[in-house]
Amino acid sequence: MCVRRYLIVFVLLTILLQSLFNLSHCGEVCDPDKELCGEEEETDSWWESPDRRSPAEMIEQEISKCTLLINMGRHLEAIGLLTSLIQVHPGFFQPYVARGSAYALEKYFDEALADMTRAIELNPTYVDSWIRRGQIRAAMGNTEGSIADLKQARIISEVEKSTGNTETMLSLEYGQYEYSKKNFSGAVSIFKNALANSKEDSTLNKMVRYHLAKTYLELGEIYKAKSLLDIVLKLDPNFLPALSEMGQVMKEFNRFKEADRYFISVIDLASERPEDTLINQKQVLLMTHLRIARFRHWAGELALTVESTKAAIDDHTGPALIEMSYYLGGAYHGLGEFHQALSGYERGLSESPTHFIYYLNEVCKQHQIYFDTPLTDYYWDALFSPQFKECYGMRRDTDECLPKSYVPLPLSTVASLNLKNTLTPNQTELLTLAKRLGTKILYNTPGFVTNRKQIISSGLAMLQSAQVMHRIIKGESIRVTGKSSSHNRVPHSFGWRDFFDILVRWRQAVEPLDPVWWIDGLTPESFKKGYGTTTPLIIGDKKNIRYFPYFNSVFNLLKYLVPLQVKLDDEQVYRIITSKTLHEVHVAMGSDVSVLSPCFSSVSPGAVMDGSRISLYYSKEESGYMFEVSTSAVPPRWKLFNLELQSAFQNITYEGPGVVTRGDALSLSLTFAYYWFQFMPLSRGSAAIGVQTINSILLAFGYEYRAAIPKGIQIDWEAMVSSRPEDFMHSLSSWLKPEYLEELGYDLMTDIPNVEDSIASLRDMFSMVNSGMVLN
Ligand SMILES: *[C@@H]1O[C@H](CO)[C@@H](O)[C@H](O)[C@H]1NC(C)=O
Ligand SMILES: *[C@@H]1O[C@H](CO)[C@@H](O)[C@H](O)[C@H]1NC(C)=O
Ligand SMILES: *[C@@H]1O[C@H](CO)[C@@H](O)[C@H](O)[C@H]1NC(C)=O
Repeated sequence: MCVRRYLIVFVLLTILLQSLFNLSHCGEVCDPDKELCGEEEETDSWWESPDRRSPAEMIEQEISKCTLLINMGRHLEAIGLLTSLIQVHPGFFQPYVARGSAYALEKYFDEALADMTRAIELNPTYVDSWIRRGQIRAAMGNTEGSIADLKQARIISEVEKSTGNTETMLSLEYGQYEYSKKNFSGAVSIFKNALANSKEDSTLNKMVRYHLAKTYLELGEIYKAKSLLDIVLKLDPNFLPALSEMGQVMKEFNRFKEADRYFISVIDLASERPEDTLINQKQVLLMTHLRIARFRHWAGELALTVESTKAAIDDHTGPALIEMSYYLGGAYHGLGEFHQALSGYERGLSESPTHFIYYLNEVCKQHQIYFDTPLTDYYWDALFSPQFKECYGMRRDTDECLPKSYVPLPLSTVASLNLKNTLTPNQTELLTLAKRLGTKILYNTPGFVTNRKQIISSGLAMLQSAQVMHRIIKGESIRVTGKSSSHNRVPHSFGWRDFFDILVRWRQAVEPLDPVWWIDGLTPESFKKGYGTTTPLIIGDKKNIRYFPYFNSVFNLLKYLVPLQVKLDDEQVYRIITSKTLHEVHVAMGSDVSVLSPCFSSVSPGAVMDGSRISLYYSKEESGYMFEVSTSAVPPRWKLFNLELQSAFQNITYEGPGVVTRGDALSLSLTFAYYWFQFMPLSRGSAAIGVQTINSILLAFGYEYRAAIPKGIQIDWEAMVSSRPEDFMHSLSSWLKPEYLEELGYDLMTDIPNVEDSIASLRDMFSMVNSGMVLN
C-alpha cells in the first residue's frame, strides 16, 4: 500500500521534473510582443528597474536560468531567484509555475500549491499550471482535486489544440489515474493513444511505454509488457523502473536467473549513482527490495532471501518494513534457523503487534518444540486450535480474531538446524531420487515459479507414500497408531486419508509461510459454512496469468450449465449459448450468476455430486467482472467424497500382488486423483498434492511417466472441467497414456532406503528440503 503511494508520488515528481524542460516554451505560448503574459501588466513598474529588458523577455530569460538550476537539483537556489523575480513582477504567472514546481520537488507541497493556484488565477488558460497543480494535489493525497484540475487542463488543451507534449503529459496523468482506479483497459487505451502522439525518442515517450508495459503486466498480458520494456530498455538501458518491471516479467516466465539479475541491477545502479534524481531512485529501490524478497522466497531460495533482505530491511519503514520482516523471518524459519526467524518476525511485530506475522511467530516456536519429536508421534494440525488455524489461514489481525484467552507458546531450547550438517548416506540417496521425481509435478505455464524446496519435498512425499502403498498392494496389512493421523486418532488400518496425511505433512513442512490445513479441522462453524478455496480467472480487467489458459474451458462450461441450472426464457438461452464474452452473458442474465459443475459418482452410478462453483459477478471494487471457481468443503459434500476416495483407494489396494497392467495402474491412479482434485479439502495446496498422488500411485505399481507435464497443461484444471474420471483421463491422454509409462528400474522396498525410517523428524525434513543451501 505504502509502496504504491510512494510510487505514485515518485512518478508525479519525475514527470514534474521532466516537464520543467519545457518551461521555456512559455515564451512561445505568451507572445512577448504583446506583453500579455500577466493580467496586471499595466501596473507593473518595469521601467523603474535598471534592467532594460522588456518584462516578458526578462521573465523568459530568468526562468530559463532557473529551469536549468532546478534541473541540476539546485531547487533552493532557484526558489530564491524566483522569489526575487516575483517581487519585481508579481503580475506574471510564469515565475509562480516555476517556483511552485521547485517547491514540489523539495516536497514543500503547501507552498507549491499556493504558487500554482496563484499562477492559475493570473492566467487560467495556461494548461501546465493546471496539470502541475493536479500533480501536486495528487501528491498531497487529494485525488478529487487532482482530477478536477486535470479535467480542466484537458478542456483547455482541447480548445487550444495545444502541442503534442502537453497532450501526452495529460494522457500520462489520466492513464495513471485510471490505473489507480484499476481501470486497466481504460489506462491502456489512453497510453496507446499517447504513444501514437508523442515523439519517438522523447523522454515522455519512454515514460508512456513504461506505463503501458506496467499496465499490461497488471492485466496479465506478459508478452505485450515484455516487448514494450524491451524497447524502453533499448532507449535507456539504465531506466530503473523498467528494469524492475522486467524482473517481474521474467518472474512470470519462470526465468529465475534473468529475473534475479534484473532486480539486482536496479539495486546496483541505484547505489552507484546515489546523487542522480535521488527521490525517484529511492522509491524504485525500495519497491525492488520487496520484489526480490518475494521472488526469491517463493522460488525457495531462502539463503538468497536472507542475504538480500537482511541488507535492505533497515531502509524500510511502515508496511514495507513489516513485509520485509515477514520474508526475513520466513526465510530463516524455512531454513530451520528458529532464533533468527523469531527476531525477524519480531521486527514486524514491533511495528504492528497485531499483524498476522504473530501466527508465524507461534508456528515457528511450535516447529522448534517438535523439531526432534518422531513424526509418528503427533499430528501437526492437532497442535493448533481450530480458531488459531482459521485466523492464520485468513490472515486476520490477532486482535480481531484470536480469542483473548490464547496462551502464547513457550520458547524452546531445542537446537536450530545446522545447515552444515551432512546428510546420512541413505538420505543422500533419497535426495538424488527425490530431485529427479520432484520435477515431474512441475507445471510449464507462465506464472508458475519453480521452487527448489518443493521439488525435493514433492519427490520425497511421493516416494514415502508410494512405499507404503506398495507394501499394501503386495498384500501387507498396515495399521497405524492414529497418533499421527489427521482424522481417526485411534489405531486403525491405513486408509485413503492416511495416504494424504503423508503428502500433506510434507507440504506443511516445506513452506512455513503457507497455512496448509485440513478444512474439517477448522472450527465447526466455518466447516459448516463452507470454508473453501477460490481461484479467480478474471479479476475486473485482469487476467490471472496462471489460470487464464483455462478460461475458455471454464467459460464454455458456464454457458453449457447456465441453461441447465437457471430458469431462463428461450431468448435468454439463445443469447447465453451464443455469448462470446462475460459481459454478454451478464447482460443476457441481467444479473450475477453462478453454477455448479457436476462430478459424477463412481460409487453410486448416476449420482451427481457438487464439483466446483463457477461464478460470474460484477465487482464494484474491481470495476469489472469477477470470474472465479470455488470449492467449499461443507460436511455433506465431505461425506460423499469420503466414499469416492475410500472406494478409489480400495480399488488400488485390491489389485493383488500380481503385475498390474499399465492401463489399470493409470486408470486407478487417475481416478483416485480425480476425486481428490474435485474435493479440494485443504485450506491450500490441494492441487499440487493431487499431482503427487498420480505419481505416487504409479510408483507404487512400479511405473513412472516418461515425459514432464507438457507446456500449458494444468492437471487440476483438467480434472475440474471433467465431469467423470474417464473424461479426465481422456483429457490427459495426449501425453499420459499407458504406453508412455515406464517400468521402474528398481524395487521401491528393497533397492532404495525407506523414507519413513530415514527421515524421522521435522529436523530431518528441514535438512532434506534445504540441502545445498548455505547461509553466509
Ligand atoms: C475507464 O477508462 C476509460 C478511458 O478513460 C473510460 O472511458 C471509462 O469510462 C473508464 N471506465 C470506468 C469503469 O471507469
Ligand atoms: C472401484 O471398483 C468398483 C468395482 O469395479 C467400481 O464399481 C467402483 O466404481 C470403483 N470405484 C471408483 C471410485 O472408481
Ligand atoms: C539404509 O538403507 C538400507 C536399504 O537401502 C537399509 O538396509 C539400511 O539399514 C539403512 N541404513 C540406516 C542407517 O538406516
